[in-house]
Parts: sequence; C-alpha cells; structure tokens
Amino acid sequence: MDMLVIRGGQPLRGTVRTSGAKNAALPIMAACLLTDGPVRLSEVPKLADVDSLSQLLRLLGVDVEATGPQELSLRVIDRQHFTAPYDLVRKMRASICVLGPLVARRGRAKVSLPGGCNIGHRPIDLHLRGLEALGAQIRVEGGYVEASARRLRGATISLAGPCGSTVTGTANIMAAAVLASGVTTITSAALEPEIVDLAEFLNGLGAQITGQGTPEIRIEGVAALSGGKYSVIPDRIEAATLMIAAIATRGEVTITNIQPTHLESVIHLLREAGADIEIEQSGEETRVVAAGRRMLRPIEFSATPYPGVPTDLQAQLTALLTAAAGDSTVTDAVFPNRFMHVSELCRMGARIEHRGDGVVIRGRNRLSGASVMASDLRASAALAVAALAAEGQSVIRRVYHLDRGYERLDLKLQSLGGQVERILDSPDSIPGSDPTAFLKAA
Ligand code: UD1
Repeated sequence: MDMLVIRGGQPLRGTVRTSGAKNAALPIMAACLLTDGPVRLSEVPKLADVDSLSQLLRLLGVDVEATGPQELSLRVIDRQHFTAPYDLVRKMRASICVLGPLVARRGRAKVSLPGGCNIGHRPIDLHLRGLEALGAQIRVEGGYVEASARRLRGATISLAGPCGSTVTGTANIMAAAVLASGVTTITSAALEPEIVDLAEFLNGLGAQITGQGTPEIRIEGVAALSGGKYSVIPDRIEAATLMIAAIATRGEVTITNIQPTHLESVIHLLREAGADIEIEQSGEETRVVAAGRRMLRPIEFSATPYPGVPTDLQAQLTALLTAAAGDSTVTDAVFPNRFMHVSELCRMGARIEHRGDGVVIRGRNRLSGASVMASDLRASAALAVAALAAEGQSVIRRVYHLDRGYERLDLKLQSLGGQVERILDSPDSIPGSDPTAFLKAA
C-alpha cells in the first residue's frame, strides 16, 4: 500500500489543471447500461473508483476500453448479467448507480447493499422507494437488493431525505425513468452539477429530461437510447481542494479546467476568511487564482447540499482553519458524523473540539508533521492539506483512499513545488525514519 511523505512549509505556486469530475463520471458510466450504441466519454479521470466501476460494468456485459489518456469507450455487448457482487460494491458505494439502469433496461437487477462507511450510516431507502414508485418489485435478501420490472412506468417521486435530497438516488431514479413509459417527475431532486451533467449526457443520447439543476426534474420516457460522445465536467471538489492547499501554504495557484459557478459558495466562504480568489477569463478559458497572502479570519459554516458548501470539502476546510486567527465552527448537515479526520489532525497539533453537532477549531495554530492515517477519501485530502502547511515531515498512510477520488494528487502537488513523495508502505523506505536508527545511534 502506498503512502505519501510530505515535507511541509513550502508555498505552492504555479498552474494546475483539474481532472474530470469523479461524481459525474461514475453515474454517467453506469448509465451506459441503458444504451443501444457505443458511447465515447472524454475527461474521465484516471481513478481507482473509475477502474472499479469499469470492472463491474465488464462483469455486466459492457466492453469498456481506454481509448485515450482520459477517454473511455463503452459498448454493451451482453445483456444477460444483472448482478453487482459484494466484492466490487464494497470497494465503491457509487456501484449502486447500476441499480436503476439495470432494472430499466434488463428488467432485473441484483446489487449488493453498499452498507455503511467511514463517513457514517448511508442508507439507500430513497433509491428503493423511487424504484418501487416506478413499478419495480424490490426484495432485500442475503445482503442484496433485488429489483425486477417488465417495464418501468412514470410516476411522481420525492427524493427528500432527513439530510436533504440524495445525489446518487437522483441519478439512479432519473436514469431509470428515461426508459420508463410515460412521464416521471422527481420532486426534491438533488441540485448538484453532477446531476445536471448526467441529464445532459442522457439527453444527448435521446432522453427527454428537463428541469435538471432545479428541485423538480421531469423525464418523459423514451423507447431507447442511442450511443454518442460526451465530455465530463471538471471536478469541483478537486479544484477546491487545490485552492485550499494553495491558501493553506500561503502560496498562489492558478487552476484551469474549472467552472467557478459550481464553486460559488466555496469561493464566497474562502473570501470571507480573507483568502484572495480571482476569476480570470482568457478567451474561452476560465481560470481561478487562489492565494493566501495573510492570516485567515475565523469563520463559521455548515456543509449543506448544493449550492451550499459541499460536505466533500468540509474536512479540507477544517484543516485550513487550524491556522485562522481565532476559533471557527463547522457542522455537516449532510453527513453529521463526518469528522473522522479530526483525531488525525489533532495528532498534527490541531486543537479541535467536538461541540454540539459539530466542531470548534481553535485557531492560531501551526501544525507539525506527524504520521497519520487516512480514514476516507476526503479525510485523506484534508491530511494532505494539513501536511503541506505543517512544519516538518508527515507520513500519510492508506493513500488508496486518496487514489479513489483524486487523479495523482501527489504529482499535481509536486508540479506546484510541494515536497510530496509517494513510496511503498514499508517503514524502511520513509526518509529520515529508519526504525533501527536508535540502535545505530546507541
Ligand atoms: C454523493 C457523493 C458524495 C457526497 C454526497 C453528498 C457520489 C458518487 N457521491 O454520495 O461524494 O459526499 O453525495 O453530497 O456522487 N440518504 C438517505 N437515504 C438514501 C440516500 C441518502 O437518508 O436513500 C442520506 C444520506 O445518509 C446522507 C444524505 O442523504 O445523509 C445525502 O446522501 P447522498 O446524497 O445519497 O450521498 P451519495 O449520493 O451516496
């Protein structure tokens, strides 16, 4: 297992390009199960999650081929299979996105229940309720959800949950409804840009979806979807993580392949904290310059569904705020228990206390390098941000979490002058941490 060794204190400087959005690419890939022709996707990030889903789609009879560095060709060649096994689903929760497309196009799906994960309890009741409303018979047995239907039929479905609307639930139901008979209306739909991207992709293949990006999505069922080409939107979470890393190191980084409109709440929050964020337009290209020129002001925020500050940036922002000039308060309304990164940040000298529903981050704190363990995807990004800003050397273990959702973040940070090294998980190979050093010294 790889790990990252980061020597902190170096301001990040330069220009870096964001990859395509993981959370858009995955449901789009899964929706290829609906199609009758070949699909060519560009701006697909090279990630462990994309590999896992490719593997699952192959099991389900899809020929998935890399036709370029960021390009995938997908063609359904066999429609007999309908099972997504536990071993693949447990690696990646987004595998649940095959459920809707399978039952819509093949009349049957058997998908392992994803279960909980390190960011908390993550039920799929809304996905199942939505499919039932479309006429699917649902059974949960032996850790699997089994869904069947001759042809789904349009319905009005609310996808509101106790913590807001469900993002992959909206993707699943919207994709399934595309081939249903009649009209489906999703109320309390997720507003995330990745849902809009999925709708645009499906419309390009012949679907009739309107209202994407609003709480009410209308889908007029069609008989079939053709193949086609599509380019995935830039990853707003990766872009913002790079912005946060630039600010945390008191550097200045220009980010390309970015859609600032997808990051309005984050840009607003970072500016409120005193960071410098400039949006530049040069011809067709939009660039965002993020810089940390002064000590940040403390802030208070809650992670909420889009267009709010994303829960997927809560951990990175928490790491950033350890250096603010006072106490900041953070809550997470989407995943209220998503604070696994706190104890690891504290190992680096952060002073963060749990209070009420959230945490209070005591500011005026220079972190110091330490050995830390990544607990989930975004927590690992938060540890990388903290390590880049810290004094001394940090070792981040379980980097596979990072590789699930960031395309070679280590190389991107290196290109910005960050002292980041990826090494194999063997204690002997950590620079300056020879476990026998004390014997030699004695
Ligand atoms: C997606 C993102 C993930 C992000 C999350 C919230 C993908 C692949 N993943 O995850 O990166 O952190 O949105 O922005 O796009 N819930 C229910 N019942 C359900 C489904 C969800 O109660 O059936 C709850 C969840 O427990 C959570 C909230 O709703 O509290 C939002 O979850 P959801 O939007 O479904 O997250 P994902 O789609 O799994």
